[in-house]
Amino acid sequence: GKVRAPTHIISTISDDRGEEPCYAGVPMSSIVERGYGVGDVISLLWFKRSLPRYCTHFIEICIMLCADHGPCVSGAHNTIVTARAGKDLVSSLVSGLLTIGPRFGGAIDDAARYFKDAYDRGLTPYEFVESMKKKGIRVPGIGHRIKRGDNRDKRVELLQRFARTHFPSVKYMEYAVQVETYTLSKANNLVLNVDGAIGSLFLDLLAGSGMFSKQEIDEIVEIGYLNGLFVLARSIGLIGHTFDQKRLKQPLYRHPWEDVLYTK
Ligand code: ACO
Ligand code: LMR
Repeated sequence: GKVRAPTHIISTISDDRGEEPCYAGVPMSSIVERGYGVGDVISLLWFKRSLPRYCTHFIEICIMLCADHGPCVSGAHNTIVTARAGKDLVSSLVSGLLTIGPRFGGAIDDAARYFKDAYDRGLTPYEFVESMKKKGIRVPGIGHRIKRGDNRDKRVELLQRFARTHFPSVKYMEYAVQVETYTLSKANNLVLNVDGAIGSLFLDLLAGSGMFSKQEIDEIVEIGYLNGLFVLARSIGLIGHTFDQKRLKQPLYRHPWEDVLYTK
């Protein structure tokens, strides 16, 4: 019989050996002929299946809305400083990407984890928020540096409006909104932020699309796929900021002394 040497790598998402490359078994020509968009490609390469149009459209909206948020946020600031230090595109991009984490853009997975756990266990928003406080953990997906109860994040509203119109159920999002109502009663800065909106709505997408088993949903949430949406999206803006600085021929950045509190 055949003797098969053990392979060093196992891969299940793409194959480039045939006449044309395939993403999750779908050939490139079908991707083009069927008019697939980037949401479909993400579905194939991340989730290994074709998702319904409203899901891929939602993914694309997340990417468009998170592509940039001005030059002052952590990621763009790092990228701008790096580009002005004369570094190349990849260095400027990754310098910005490295700021994505639990405080900035990278709270989507934890928001999904905590909202799912709290909702599935039937905790009231009060019980959930107060139990987090007791543990000394900030609620992921809640809070913003400039958004307030009376100056909500438009991106959150747009995502919610799309989901309320197209998703079969928005139970996790409604739970996140109830959590926000409670946190806003405590402080005006504790709004549902874009990470919390995407985290809760992606739970609704996974649970409501009928395309994932319970076990698959748990695995997606546990591994943490969802911060990838912000990383991917914000790369678009960070690349733009790099080009902008180069185009403007901006000199080496040095932070002004007046803006530093020198103290002993
Ligand atoms: N849960 C509970 N309490 C909170 C939260 C939260 N998520 N966020 C702020 N607070 C409270 C705290 O009591 C804090 O006081 P403390 O410093 O004694 O803990 C008080 O509000 C004031 O908070 P600030 O530190 O002034 O808030 P700041 O503006 O620095 O932080 C931030 C903003 C980092 C977004 C914060 O709200 C947070 O950590 N949120 C959770 C992580 C998150 O969702 N990040 C994604 C933001 S959206 C994005 O980056 C695209
Ligand atoms: C962002 O998308 O970068 C923000 O929500 C963070 C910010 O402070 O504006």
